[in-house]
Amino acid sequence: MNWRSEPPCGCISQGRPRPVSEVEAVCAVLRRATHDLHERLERLPVMAPLTAGCVSAPQYLRALARLYGFYAPMEAVLFGDTLPDSMGVRPKSPALLRDLSALGLSGDAITTLPHCTRLPALSDPSQRLGALYVLEGATLGGRVVLRRIADSLGELTHTATNFHGFHGDEVGPWWKYFQAELTERLRDQPSIAHATHGATATFDSLGAWLEA
Ligand code: HEM
Repeated sequence: MNWRSEPPCGCISQGRPRPVSEVEAVCAVLRRATHDLHERLERLPVMAPLTAGCVSAPQYLRALARLYGFYAPMEAVLFGDTLPDSMGVRPKSPALLRDLSALGLSGDAITTLPHCTRLPALSDPSQRLGALYVLEGATLGGRVVLRRIADSLGELTHTATNFHGFHGDEVGPWWKYFQAELTERLRDQPSIAHATHGATATFDSLGAWLEA
């Protein structure tokens, strides 16, 4: 598959773009609905070291291994669909794999990492859009995490931060592009409600997985 790798131009891939105010309004619904779940996730014991300012390599590896155990099966479901490709979204599990390997995990150890089996039920395209919102949104927090872990990780910052550094300095433009593509596909209240359900169900499932 040839994933789009150049920075987005800011235009959407189909039709006339929606006004910025409409894009913001739809995105605000998703943000509000998932705000508390996101906060809870940041505070979980496996994630909290990422913002504590002094993460150890084993703590970092554990967080990445759990994220991989969720992203890999979720992306297997979501990227079997044409949605992510048509929206310019690339899978993040290859970046997690590179990080785990840079942290010294062998190929054999990686293949035996547990995968989440209680994935959210995403029965329609709008619900899957809500799930994509969650997985893609992590690139925003990734920048924050990157700043907090850089000092502790030292040299590993150059090799083991492909996930949290996804999109590099282009996080903002990619997020705007994603939001435009997302809202282009959420044109009415039922589809926005389904996407919201997909997003909260994804955060619920991820939270339970990271807590286990
Ligand atoms: C300790 C880990 C994390 C921290 C500190 C964190 C922090 C943040 C911050 C500060 C933002 C807002 C960034 C901005 O507006 O520029 C954000 C956005 C977001 N994060 Fe996280 N995050 C973390 C992990 C995650 C994970 C694991 C996921 C999901 C897999 C996630 C999903 C999202 C989403 C969906 C948004 C977008 C919210 C919006 O609509 O604006 N985050 N995160």
